[in-house]
Amino acid sequence: MGAQELIATAKALVASDKGLLAMDESNSTCNKRFARLGIPETEEARRSYRELIVTTPGLGEFISGVILYDETIRQSRKDGTPFVKVITDAGIMPGIKVDTGAKDMASHPGEKITEGLDGLRARLAEYSQMGARFAKWRAVITIGDAIPSRGCIEANSHALARYAALSQEAGLVPIVEPEVLMDGEHTLERCCEVTEEVLRTVFNQLHTQRVTLEGMILKPNMVLPGLTCPRQAAVDEVADATVRCLLRAVPAAVPGIAFLSGGQTGELASARLNAMNVRFKSRLPWALAFSFARAIQQPALEIWQGEGAHVLAAQKALYHRARCNSAARLGQYRTEMENNVDSRVI
Ligand code: 13P
Repeated sequence: MGAQELIATAKALVASDKGLLAMDESNSTCNKRFARLGIPETEEARRSYRELIVTTPGLGEFISGVILYDETIRQSRKDGTPFVKVITDAGIMPGIKVDTGAKDMASHPGEKITEGLDGLRARLAEYSQMGARFAKWRAVITIGDAIPSRGCIEANSHALARYAALSQEAGLVPIVEPEVLMDGEHTLERCCEVTEEVLRTVFNQLHTQRVTLEGMILKPNMVLPGLTCPRQAAVDEVADATVRCLLRAVPAAVPGIAFLSGGQTGELASARLNAMNVRFKSRLPWALAFSFARAIQQPALEIWQGEGAHVLAAQKALYHRARCNSAARLGQYRTEMENNVDSRVI
């Protein structure tokens, strides 16, 4: 596949008012979320839940791509239709998480390095054959006393760039996700400083590894104070800090930035994305979109609770969050939209 196709796919992923839905939780993460709600931690429960998501009527109005996990890309609807076909028929592009998880980093207490480069070329070829159009790799950066270290930032950025180059070679658009975590007491300013340093390092490595910037999507964290920071920030402050940081560090050749939600509530994630698009619309060289997992899925999961009778209500909640985020892309999200979720009444 040529560069032109990669570029067209990357553009389509962040087209107009659309964004991505991350549903690529590993089995253990998915099980943990199920366990909290008393949902059985079985392959069949995970399959049913993913069927609920991909068969949500109208999802393709707001969602350009869904990110799957290895188990999920091989699964089918109860009637035997492969999920990849269901997704494609809905006008949505299937993508795939290809890292194998963040592990403790040697000699770097409290820090993680994401693994998965060995054998990646062959796995990408298989996923491409299965119909995947893009890939995702997540690096995790923790803020704390004397961390993140240069060693952690450099090793993770190098791995992200190696993954991105291999993805493009396989014809898959790489979603490059360096996540600076929300956990901790750090201030908004510290998050801004760390995020900028991480992004600069990531883009240096992407350049060194000859990644075509026009054929990738960046998936960063929003710039936020730590969860236990005594001074939390207003929506506009978050919007300003985030966009200023990105304007300094992300080349204009990148077609789109699709944020992760990182544990923010669905409402806050929508409000903050909306504020960025309202306050900076005319100054943005790239599309500012979303690639949320929890901030789209959580209400639906809580409604579903593993019960077939709750599927329709859960799908309405999922559709609602996708719609709110699509409105946020256009700067048209209003908190009053949250009052119109008839799906909340089961
Ligand atoms: P959250 O939106 O829940 O942070 O998940 C996004 C994601 O894909 C993490 O890798």
